[in-house]
Amino acid sequence: MRIWTVSNQKGGVGKTTTAVTLGCLLAAEGRRVLLLDLDPQGSLSAYFRCNPDASHSSVYALFAASANADENLSVQALIRETGTANLSLLPASTAMATLDRQLGAQGGMGLVIRRALAGLESHFDYVLLDCPPMLGVLMVNALAACERLLIPVQTEFLALKGLERMLSTLQMIGRSRGSVLPYTVIPTFFDRRTRASTEALRMLRDQHKEHLWDRVVPIDTQFREASRQGQPINRFNATARGTQAYASLLRWLQAETGQSREPDREAVAS
Ligand SMILES: Nc1ncnc2c1ncn2[C@@H]1O[C@H](COP(=O)(O)OP(=O)(O)O)[C@@H](O)[C@H]1O
Ligand SMILES: [Mg+2]
Repeated sequence: MRIWTVSNQKGGVGKTTTAVTLGCLLAAEGRRVLLLDLDPQGSLSAYFRCNPDASHSSVYALFAASANADENLSVQALIRETGTANLSLLPASTAMATLDRQLGAQGGMGLVIRRALAGLESHFDYVLLDCPPMLGVLMVNALAACERLLIPVQTEFLALKGLERMLSTLQMIGRSRGSVLPYTVIPTFFDRRTRASTEALRMLRDQHKEHLWDRVVPIDTQFREASRQGQPINRFNATARGTQAYASLLRWLQAETGQSREPDREAVAS
């Protein structure tokens, strides 16, 4: 089971779009995928018409059970089908916004997600975690649970500052994990006609080359149109430039992480 986190301490950079699109593309290749919505705003859940006000069957329940030392909660009972084959969802709820305040003083809450996922090893090939844009217990959990971090970065100057912030968080978490998490920077909203985009991309290439996906996700109005209709872009428009960019990103990530394109069915057979 591969666990990837999508995170950046800046909003509107394409995190949720990256999680939902990669998830949907993986599911279309026959991988069993679980999407986890860790953002109290619930934009990932909204793609699947999940109401974020229903906290009883959301990520929130995992933290509530952990805080109350309740060991009877089954993670699987919280997971829903999405209507897309091979694609499941553990939704968010607005109550998750109160977790930092509630759990502030309580130690040992950094591994809630990691422990929950450990029990799902034989059920999924990939787990993708979509993070909120702020550093808190949810992001810390995501970074502790995953084996790779994907950082979408909007190709504009201010967004590069956001990347620096994310990378210092990563350093900090790395010290407590004992190792720095491998990460990939994904340039998003690239508009080759604007100087802001081309300059930002040049800076990314100068400063982060080793961790940078060598292509870009272009700005594409189809993304907004697709999300307005509650669809991942690849389902909304299979030939859109944005869809092709994410398909290419997925191939690159699979090569980078040593995963062939063919679904690995050993887990199913055993
Ligand atoms: N490459 C892109 N080009 C144009 N619009 C995009 C692109 N990526 C995402 N969007 C749109 O921008 C908005 C914010 O994207 P989202 O993925 O929700 O960001 P985040 O999760 O980082 O806040 C959404 O309406 C989405 O459809
Ligand atoms: Mg989001």
